[in-house]
Amino acid sequence: MRLEGVSVTYEGAAGERNRALDDVTLSLEVGVTGLMGQTGSGKSTLLDVLAGVLPPDSGQLLVDGADALRGPGARALAASVGLVFQIPERQFFEATVEREVSFGLLARGMGAAKARERAGSALALMGLSLDELGHRSPFALSGGQQRRVAIASVLALRPALLLLDEPTAGLDPRARSACLAAVRAAAEDGATVVVASHDANALAAVADRVVALEAGRVTLDGPMRALLGDAGLMRAHGLEGACAARAASALRRAGIDVPGAPLTAEELASAIARGRAS
Ligand SMILES: Nc1ncnc2c1ncn2[C@@H]1O[C@H](COP(=O)(O)OP(=O)(O)O)[C@@H](O)[C@H]1O
Ligand SMILES: [Mg+2]
Repeated sequence: MRLEGVSVTYEGAAGERNRALDDVTLSLEVGVTGLMGQTGSGKSTLLDVLAGVLPPDSGQLLVDGADALRGPGARALAASVGLVFQIPERQFFEATVEREVSFGLLARGMGAAKARERAGSALALMGLSLDELGHRSPFALSGGQQRRVAIASVLALRPALLLLDEPTAGLDPRARSACLAAVRAAAEDGATVVVASHDANALAAVADRVVALEAGRVTLDGPMRALLGDAGLMRAHGLEGACAARAASALRRAGIDVPGAPLTAEELASAIARGRAS
């Protein structure tokens, strides 16, 4: 899918105009694209445009070369997109977890037995049990459980275009790992995935590519490792690199040889060991 010259301007309460996306051109492919940028840089706006829920003021949204902003292209996009909002648990409206997670499946005409099975496997991906939680009210769960149910309800649809807005914010380590594994699995199954996140360590675990926004413009776009492994580049763009990359540059400044561009604790440890051996 492709955005061409997309701009979005919001009008503020006092009538002032705020350009949230400024002439964004971007192609998205199968795999995971990590979308970074400071608060207010336009990440959520970009996801809304990609999801087809916010028509841009100008520019095009193309899927397989066809207009996805109106007509049959827009209907095809709506059928293939899954968006996990920034605070997805705010969107709950069903009385039970099972109904919440199977809602979209039933709305698309899936039979009840198949929908239940799909809901169960989506919950299991997020480390939750349909048998344990299925009959409970989603509103009565813990915050972390709610977030996982909300993500599961989108994963259950197995969307070809999966968009997640800060999905790991506020999750405990186990739920965060489950979420990242599910994101990676969707990409391995052939989905085009975009994850907006401030969490460079999370993106280091799942992303193939990183795109950074600054004031509504794309300022970085490249392979994940080249970007997140370069702590200086990230800092120059007001972003935080992966923890291991920052540790590597601090160690180098302290005179310790750290070869390569480690992104995880394990990679950092083996880089230090290689540096000492050479
Ligand atoms: N509904 C809205 N009305 C007015 N301004 C908005 C609205 N949503 C976002 N904005 C503004 O648009 C800019 C981009 O916001 P957003 O896309 O939410 O960025 P991010 O997700 O990166 O924090 C910000 O300046 C924000 O204040
Ligand atoms: Mg946002």
